[in-house]
Amino acid sequence: MGESGRSAAWAERADSFGSVAAEYAVLRPTYPPDVVGFLVGPDASGGSGRRVLDVGAGTGLLTELLVAAGHEVVAVDPSAAMLEQLALRLPDVTTAVARAEALPLPAADVDVVTAAQAAHWFDPAPAAAEMSRVLRPGGTVGLVWSLRDDRAPWVAALSAILAAENVDRFRPAAVAEAFARELGADVRSTESVFVQRATPEDVVAGFATRSYAAAMTEDRRAAFLGEIRELIATHPDTRGREVVDLPHAVSAFRLTPR
Ligand SMILES: C[S@@+](CC[C@H](N)C(=O)[O-])C[C@H]1O[C@@H](n2cnc3c(N)ncnc32)[C@H](O)[C@@H]1O
Repeated sequence: MGESGRSAAWAERADSFGSVAAEYAVLRPTYPPDVVGFLVGPDASGGSGRRVLDVGAGTGLLTELLVAAGHEVVAVDPSAAMLEQLALRLPDVTTAVARAEALPLPAADVDVVTAAQAAHWFDPAPAAAEMSRVLRPGGTVGLVWSLRDDRAPWVAALSAILAAENVDRFRPAAVAEAFARELGADVRSTESVFVQRATPEDVVAGFATRSYAAAMTEDRRAAFLGEIRELIATHPDTRGREVVDLPHAVSAFRLTPR
């Protein structure tokens, strides 16, 4: 669906991240380190550091792992507030306020484009066209999402609360396929599990950083977060625990244009 086909509410949610940037930087789960190797892929030239563009980089959760793996990273995001948080943790990374649909990079500039927890916000046709333009020949695109893993009973109960809020869930594979179509790319994928260990209050505060919560009125958000707090306090899996395990299913895709 094109940007023009998206609702005003969608655009408002996509733009809501700046209001929770500082909390986001601390409370969102990161990604398993081995996912970086998969997203960036093998280097045909045998060199170590690649030039990577991280789109929708936000506060830099994936950017940080890319830098730690020895890559030179450019980070872009439409939210200046998110990028300010990124600059605090990664002062050497070049940043630019921009959208995936209009990237501020020259043609054939990077080896890899990554997007973590972000490509579902992009309009696939113009974003893929921009990715193709900035990628060097032989370049690839790495997409990753980390979503709550409902197989744990308390997480299923949590998801029921979220479903009541009409929080739409997208399928990572469907988003990756849409990008693969636009890019004319072959897709490889991998799945893993990542467990975030957090205090109940940090879990609650993490939900306050979600785009749907940031877009609620203050009263609605307080009631919604209260329900999550109550669930953790009473569910047999989590009751009385100082630290709870919040499992995430991590889905990563590497797209290689043909
Ligand atoms: C859930 S956050 C993910 C941030 C970071 N990559 C991470 O893994 O934590 C989604 C990010 O996508 C950004 N975003 C939303 N719409 C975008 C667009 N059209 N182009 C690029 N980034 C966008 C938001 O500003 C936000 O920082």
